[in-house]
Amino acid sequence: MATPHLFQPLHLRSIKVRNRVVISPMCQYSAHEGHLDDWHSVHLGRFATGGAGIVFTEATAVQKGGRITHGCPGLWCDSQIPGHARVAQFARRNGAVPAIQLAHAGRKGGMQRPWFGNGPLNADDHARGDMPWTPVGPSAVPVAEGWPVPHALSQQDIDALIADFVTAARRALVAGYQIAEVHGAHGYLLHSFLSPLSNLRTDGYGGDLAGRMRLALEVTQAVRDVWPDDLPLFFRTSAVDGTPEGWSLDDTVILATELKRIGVDVMDCSSSGIAGSATAGAATKRQPGFQVPYAERVRRDAQITTMAVGLITHPQQAEDILAQGRADLIAIGREALVNPMWALHAAATLGADTDFRTWPEQSGWWLASRQKTSEFYEPDA
Ligand SMILES: Cc1cc2nc3c(=O)[nH]c(=O)nc-3n(C[C@H](O)[C@H](O)[C@H](O)COP(=O)(O)O)c2cc1C
Repeated sequence: MATPHLFQPLHLRSIKVRNRVVISPMCQYSAHEGHLDDWHSVHLGRFATGGAGIVFTEATAVQKGGRITHGCPGLWCDSQIPGHARVAQFARRNGAVPAIQLAHAGRKGGMQRPWFGNGPLNADDHARGDMPWTPVGPSAVPVAEGWPVPHALSQQDIDALIADFVTAARRALVAGYQIAEVHGAHGYLLHSFLSPLSNLRTDGYGGDLAGRMRLALEVTQAVRDVWPDDLPLFFRTSAVDGTPEGWSLDDTVILATELKRIGVDVMDCSSSGIAGSATAGAATKRQPGFQVPYAERVRRDAQITTMAVGLITHPQQAEDILAQGRADLIAIGREALVNPMWALHAAATLGADTDFRTWPEQSGWWLASRQKTSEFYEPDA
């Protein structure tokens, strides 16, 4: 039987990814002053032992003020490297490629952890010790009514930002990550420069499409310059803002073409978030695979490897997306929280591993042995 597409390896520069299942970056809001702890090691470690090809660490701030919440991790200082190194080394030892998403929250810096409201920090949060800071953006335009007015970045701020992306990328490399992704989606800083809804600048970083793309391209180029040639670089985009006046899929194709030219290997195609939560302000109706058309169009028209994400939950659904040539990688987010071993179960469902051969050796041997004996049975339906 032919290997299902989902379990065919993918070569990205010098890296061989064992299959096409990627665990999407997912904030845990559980870091301490930007440092990862055991929570992150366990949370992410489950996905590596669960068979995923690539495991992403959540949005990681390149500056302290670039965190979304007080619980978001960072790589703005050296003391944050060891926590990331534990995550990266464990993933590698267990056959997964460790990846990091480098981010700056921009106008959305200083939000509440979701379970405290998911809005801007308020008096209750201050009482808990989560004090506000002034967020930054392209222009002094808040995310929405009631949100803080951001400081519009000066040229000096932009120079410092690019330098901090570079330093964070260097630290990520020291930690052992093998893939870096620049976060250009969900209304955070780089997306807010791309979108005409939030970028009202009249200097070289605003105005027409080229001006609005400039910061994302300069940041990505600077990261590419220090990220080794033999390691892949991803870019996460919000492919559409979802309003006629906003960022469009045509714009994304042009951006992807430029990013490919400067050495981006994979476009990770998400959407929305410019005027609120990416999960609340959906550009299109949320239904299974609703963002796959973005990955498909970018892949075809920019001729770049793409990753599809968003309500992909069933193995056959993922397999069909790949088989139909609509994307090259499948990112799994919330379904991996339901089942951290999603990849191993998908391999069984699609017939790529029916005898626990690809399970961790600590358990696979026993499970295969059980399967061969009368101890193993399917309970009556
Ligand atoms: C708890 C949680 C945290 C998230 N954090 C991030 C993040 O750090 N960076 C990012 O780009 N997307 C983040 N997302 C979005 C996911 O990566 C993914 O794109 C989204 O959940 C859709 O995929 P799904 O339907 O498989 O969950 C987060 C989603 C969840 C559920």
